[in-house]
Amino acid sequence: MAGAIILGTGSFLPEQIITNHDFEMMVDTTDEWITTRTGIKERRICPRGMASSDMGKEASLNACRDAGISLDEIDFILCSTITPDMFFPATACLIQAKLGIKNIPAFDISTACSGFIYGLEIAKNLILTGGYRTGLVVSTETMSRMTDYTDRSVCVLLGDGAGAAILRHSDEEGILGSYLSADGSYGNLLYVPAGGSLNPASFDTVEKRMHFMQMEGSRLFKIAILTMSESINRLLDRFNLKKEDISIFIPHQANLRIINGVAKNLGIPAEKFYVNIERYGNMSAACVPIAMDEASKKGLLKKGDLIITVAFGGGLTWGANLIRWAR
Ligand code: ACO
Repeated sequence: MAGAIILGTGSFLPEQIITNHDFEMMVDTTDEWITTRTGIKERRICPRGMASSDMGKEASLNACRDAGISLDEIDFILCSTITPDMFFPATACLIQAKLGIKNIPAFDISTACSGFIYGLEIAKNLILTGGYRTGLVVSTETMSRMTDYTDRSVCVLLGDGAGAAILRHSDEEGILGSYLSADGSYGNLLYVPAGGSLNPASFDTVEKRMHFMQMEGSRLFKIAILTMSESINRLLDRFNLKKEDISIFIPHQANLRIINGVAKNLGIPAEKFYVNIERYGNMSAACVPIAMDEASKKGLLKKGDLIITVAFGGGLTWGANLIRWAR
């Protein structure tokens, strides 16, 4: 049976670190509050002059090295980001140019923190039905550029980074299936009010700080636990699997209490969820591929293992992928 497998993964994290103690000097907060309420200790920040496409390029190069392929083997580029370098060209095209690849499709998707989950499913289908052999899925986010560093309820949560995966047509099945969903009526829980066609950037929008991310944290918290739990259950039911059949869960890293809440909800030991939030915070779509890359490099993903990735994010969007690790 034909399938699409993950041939390699890569990530990129900028060097500059902001710790909780740094935030104590910037806003009215404490290391203790941030650690106990979120699990985050530090996050990475992209230097001035470096954009999402630059981080995406580095993660993509690392994924190609890991997969053992050359750049000219890539047949399409799918980039998921809510922090594009600019409205257009698509960040995927900017990454394509920086990689020096010509004449292949390149496009962006915008499903916030669920971007890599949506991206894997779209890429799998391009490979299975579109005649493409090898795809690059890259999620890259400079969340620091839409962060209001005077808003303590948001700024402590976010960080920058990029993760990528190379998918390839195979006789084995790798991405077994996905569950994807969205509910636009919750869009106002997590959004950037200005800078788009509704409220184009003006002195007024900048003065009112409307180009920064706004969110209703406590409502999102509950929805996140429900939607991530639902996504895992839907996949287990569809494939007639028990939670014990899954070797490792790779969740979006928004809040350690959300991850633990999903584990508790489903009766799954928390240790089965890969966590790196303490080092990077929430990097939107980049969280899942970076966690997958780390878990792979640590030898936690073994050939034949069943893995579930799961996320929720702005939109609201949510979903999960069921993957048989094929390397
Ligand atoms: N330091 C100290 N106190 C704080 C801070 C802070 N950094 N932030 C908020 N507080 C205060 C609040 O003002 C509030 O004070 P009050 O009781 O006097 O009003 C108190 O702490 C409790 O606030 P809550 O919002 O109820 O705290 P909660 O336990 O819900 O934690 C958090 C807040 C961490 C935001 C949590 O709700 C959360 O993680 N929600 C999900 C957020 C999320 O995942 N968003 C996605 C963003 S990224 C993306 O999708 C692109």
